[in-house]
Amino acid sequence: MTTRTFADFEREGWDRIAPSYADVVLRATEQAFVPVLDSLGDLRGKRVLELASGTGHLAQAAVARGADVVGVDVAENMVSLARKTASGAEFRVADAEDLPFEDASFDAVICCFGLLHMANPDKAVSEAGRVLKPDGRFSFTVWQAPENGNEFVSIVLEAYGAHADTDVDLPPSPPMFLMADAAARNPLLTSAGFSQFTENVLEIVWPISSPDTMVEFIDNGAVRIRLLYERQTPDVKEKIRAAVVGATNGYLSKGHNAIPMPALLVTATQS
Ligand SMILES: C[S@@+](CC[C@H](N)C(=O)[O-])C[C@H]1O[C@@H](n2cnc3c(N)ncnc32)[C@H](O)[C@@H]1O
Repeated sequence: MTTRTFADFEREGWDRIAPSYADVVLRATEQAFVPVLDSLGDLRGKRVLELASGTGHLAQAAVARGADVVGVDVAENMVSLARKTASGAEFRVADAEDLPFEDASFDAVICCFGLLHMANPDKAVSEAGRVLKPDGRFSFTVWQAPENGNEFVSIVLEAYGAHADTDVDLPPSPPMFLMADAAARNPLLTSAGFSQFTENVLEIVWPISSPDTMVEFIDNGAVRIRLLYERQTPDVKEKIRAAVVGATNGYLSKGHNAIPMPALLVTATQS
């Protein structure tokens, strides 16, 4: 039985994916960057902390709006890339669940598609609350659940549901859509001192570059989903690949060049 934790697997997984991230995943996540920054108002002269800063493209956009930006990420390879992308921002290898910053030291905290990869998103929310100044804003995005129109994730989960053996040697992980569920999310925000929650749906789409787009996502764009895939037999892997390629071809044959993958943008204010 593995002694490695979900957090270990996530950190190693993102380190591995970092070189291909901009070509595979960023094409979807970057669609959230303008709404996230817009949710913070005028950023000139503001001190902004980005959690799970990945390749640094959101940090770069915040710098371009005049913010003084610090990004943190657990994956060293992501931090190396971010330093090249956004030379005007500062990046640190650090865990969003245990931030190396003073209380009340930021005007805003942002996090795009990071909380769903953390072992304890409640700790990251609490840390965001701690480092924010009074009236500071915390804006973050998470993917919507399949039942809320996330066709991309739905295709992957259906393929796994039909074919994958989930009884494999992997550590327990938090629910993927926990922070998209207001009933679970809002109490965490309240305990961290936040109020005035707003929630907006972002109609993000996953561009389809070829019938293999979702296979590419499983191989080079995902951590949890790939870990499960790697632990399947060759026969099951082939069935999963065939299922996602078939679904992608369904979109292509109707003339669609993208698959809906909506997200939620949540903004909360520290009291
Ligand atoms: C899907 S990527 C999102 C990257 C970027 N924010 C974007 O929107 O493109 C998830 C990122 O979360 C980072 N991450 C996962 N757990 C983390 C943690 N506990 N603290 C900080 N970063 C974490 C990963 O290393 C990875 O870079």
